[in-house]
Amino acid sequence: MGYEINGLFLNSRDVIPILGTVRRKSEGRMQIQWISKPFSRLGVGELYEVLKLRVDVFVVEQNCPYPELDGKDSHPQTLHFMGWNKADGTLAAYLRILPPGLKFKQVTIGRFVVAKAFRRQRIGNSMLERALDRIKDAWPSETVKISAQVYLKNFYESHGFEAISERYVEDGIPHIDMILLK
Ligand SMILES: CC(C)(COP(=O)(O)OP(=O)(O)OC[C@H]1O[C@@H](n2cnc3c(N)ncnc32)[C@H](O)[C@@H]1OP(=O)(O)O)[C@@H](O)C(=O)NCCC(=O)NCCS
Repeated sequence: MGYEINGLFLNSRDVIPILGTVRRKSEGRMQIQWISKPFSRLGVGELYEVLKLRVDVFVVEQNCPYPELDGKDSHPQTLHFMGWNKADGTLAAYLRILPPGLKFKQVTIGRFVVAKAFRRQRIGNSMLERALDRIKDAWPSETVKISAQVYLKNFYESHGFEAISERYVEDGIPHIDMILLK
């Protein structure tokens, strides 16, 4: 069974469509379609939107020249987790899940981003919950470790993460390592 989003026909058992709704503070309900795919299943248009969002935020908005394309996207077990706005097909949110052993010994979540126009509508919350569910399916016995930007420490704590390092600066931005308590 296949379906179409953003002009792309998706038909693969690696593609996991999850329909979810998040409540918009001022504009009623907004529907986000959550999809997770390995690199080999990303269409060219999808890949462009993902990289554009990441560069727009992590390089341009956060004013940070760093190696954004680090070679980890194409690992066969890396999962690209996308939230598409159903109303107009724009990419509202994205994160990637890296398998154990690629960045850390543990499984990790990175490039966690919500496009500026969609922020503070609980999409970030929703995406993290869904990604953690996805991790539980794929690696049920693995610990999740993240390198979090310090300003989001409380946010990650509210999802069960605990700080396990001192603060450190990476690519000019304060970070802290956190793990998800089981
Ligand atoms: C971080 C980010 C993904 C949050 O997305 P979002 O959809 O706006 O988040 P939500 O509306 O679900 O809010 C979740 C929580 O995140 C925290 N949060 C979001 N923006 C924040 C900010 N600017 N400062 C501090 N905390 C913030 C709050 O705890 C918030 O909960 P609250 O609304 O109850 O206060 C988004 O702001 C973003 O893309 N930022 C730039 C990229 C980035 O820094 N990524 C994180 C890498 S570790």
